Amino acid sequence: MPNFQPTAFGASQLQQLAQQFGTPLWVYDAALIRQRIAELRGFDAIRFAQKSCSNTHLLRLMREQGVRVDAVSRGEILRALAAGYQGGGGADAEIVFTADLIDRATLQTVIEHRIPVNAGSIDMLRQLGAASPGHGVWLRINPGFGHGHSNKTNTGGEHSKHGIWHEQLAEALAVVRTQDLTLLGLHMHIGSGVDYGHLQQVCGAMVELVREVRAAGHDLQALSAGGGLSIPYRDGEGRVDTAHYFGLWDAARREAEGVIGHALHLEIEPGRYLVAESGVLLAEVRACKDVGRNHFVLVDAGFNELMRPSMYGAYHRMSLIAADGVDKPARPTVVAGPLCESGDVFTQGDGGVVLPRDLAGAQVGDLLVIHDTGAYGASMSSNYNSRPLIAEVLVDDGQARLIRRRQTVEELLALEQGL
Ligand code: LLP
Repeated sequence: MPNFQPTAFGASQLQQLAQQFGTPLWVYDAALIRQRIAELRGFDAIRFAQKSCSNTHLLRLMREQGVRVDAVSRGEILRALAAGYQGGGGADAEIVFTADLIDRATLQTVIEHRIPVNAGSIDMLRQLGAASPGHGVWLRINPGFGHGHSNKTNTGGEHSKHGIWHEQLAEALAVVRTQDLTLLGLHMHIGSGVDYGHLQQVCGAMVELVREVRAAGHDLQALSAGGGLSIPYRDGEGRVDTAHYFGLWDAARREAEGVIGHALHLEIEPGRYLVAESGVLLAEVRACKDVGRNHFVLVDAGFNELMRPSMYGAYHRMSLIAADGVDKPARPTVVAGPLCESGDVFTQGDGGVVLPRDLAGAQVGDLLVIHDTGAYGASMSSNYNSRPLIAEVLVDDGQARLIRRRQTVEELLALEQGL
């Protein structure tokens, strides 16, 4: 690992946070989140895909910035409400529930709070219509193709469970009519890590769908471009040109407005783009060992904290802050965690292939910084190996604030006791 690489934070600041709050630790930078929001202001609305990072304090920050929110479970709806987001509304609703099915408890919650539903299946529309006539809906359409940074993040095409298949739009519209639902908008999200080639295809497909909606005699107010904007995880990777991105969608919106005959509201629904780069995972080096030809550095964070490398073979930059202040020369290193599982390795490729990386020589007590972990880090954590969820800290204007305390083992055990 290179020695410490620049982040929003300084090395001594991170060392101090690790000392104050312990490791492993998630740390987020509020200023960078605000900057990323500002880069997407061309859209009429930004709707944060909170699955990427659902801490209520970050949701509050989003709301203060005028960012709306997407929820994909009852838990995420309750998080949004706890952070101050309001239910109700039409195409401009603060909260939208997006899913491919709606369980019974969530159905009650969206009805109670009048939260518009972005439906990814016709059954969902039927169940909603039967229980809540007049309810506002978006239709999430699978256009027949998709794209993702990994097969597991591709959300379009016939191998994806997501969205209403594009050839069934007419049937979905018929259900909207017979169930007396209120059509608010059309939505498409074909995956995470979308490139411009696919984007043009998506925009074209969206205009076609608007034509079908019009031809079927329906009206709508809004279009959602979905999320999926990538970030440069590797050194040298380009950054999304957000003006170009907006330009392509804006052109599609204008074409769609021509079809429908009035102005259409255009929103975007990113998760990763807003929060990935704002976050780091801090872990302490607890053991170093040579295993045959491989040098292993073992840290106190595992895939129960950061799942992305094990799940997708995802790459995260890593750097090291030497406890003794002396930077050591780089050497091929496998970085692994404490879990009782061979796949608990942060330097790996798809399929669990262990890939040593050139990293600075580490010693016990050094601090490992895993970069760009603000999205799909904390929110994908688990209690595997009975490890409590770790703390989260938000740094704003130089001030560090605990935004989630560390869970305790006693809290885990309490779920099983006194039954
Ligand atoms: N909208 C919908 C309907 C989605 O399904 C998703 C992501 C997003 C927006 C936000 O996508 P983003 O802008 O964050 O790429 N755990 C994976 C990513 C799974 C994404 C699932 N859906 C990862 O760590 O890369």
